[in-house]
Amino acid sequence: NPPVVIAIDGPSGAGKSTAAKAVARRLGIGYLDTGAMYRAATWWVLHKNISLTPGEIDDAAVTAAVREMDLQMPLDPDQQTIRLAGEDITQAIRSSEIARKVSALSTNLEVRDILVARQKAIIAGARPGIVAEGRDITTVVAPEAQVRILLTASAQARLARRAAQTRGKVDAQALAQTRQEVVGRDEKDSTVVNFTDPEPGVELLDTSDLNIEQVVDKIMALVPLDG
Ligand code: C5P
Repeated sequence: NPPVVIAIDGPSGAGKSTAAKAVARRLGIGYLDTGAMYRAATWWVLHKNISLTPGEIDDAAVTAAVREMDLQMPLDPDQQTIRLAGEDITQAIRSSEIARKVSALSTNLEVRDILVARQKAIIAGARPGIVAEGRDITTVVAPEAQVRILLTASAQARLARRAAQTRGKVDAQALAQTRQEVVGRDEKDSTVVNFTDPEPGVELLDTSDLNIEQVVDKIMALVPLDG
């Protein structure tokens, strides 16, 4: 049987990761965090002293580094340790430096081709299935997925969630700092991938006024029952 594939896209702070992991757990299938792959590639490029500062980027060097990156992605939603070249980079890829620089890497179209090919291979081999989340899963990585969802939320809701997640609070200062990080990143990302308007066949799910259980229930309702 071909794998059951659930594709979830959306901007940062829409609640993709939490929802995708919960759905994978409920269905007993795998979970692929494609954003973590772009973050890992960013860590690897910087680790090799290749610049990702606008104006001094050597595209060929960046692409070559990503091509030889030895990254094994965990597929268990409850075991998301990420190792690269023998190092545990799980925490390191969540740093603000990686968040600031990842778009400079992910907007390189050759880099995208390399990572998309790896993601397609992981999904094709996943049994009995997988929930994959990112920015281009419903459109590029797995357009054939049985379930395709675009998660959105108001800018206000997304900011509050990200601030709580990365700073542990949602006061004015945390919101202002988070706005700088997130709005800039989404703007840069959206120059090469469209994750704001759903393509035909993609369900738009606005999570602004939903809690996590409600989001998971709505996604589960879209999953076809087999047997
Ligand atoms: O989802 P997360 O915020 O961890 O993604 C980090 C970055 O990886 C995004 O800001 C974007 O630049 C890139 N990304 C992407 N395509 C995906 C997933 C993530 O370009 N499918």
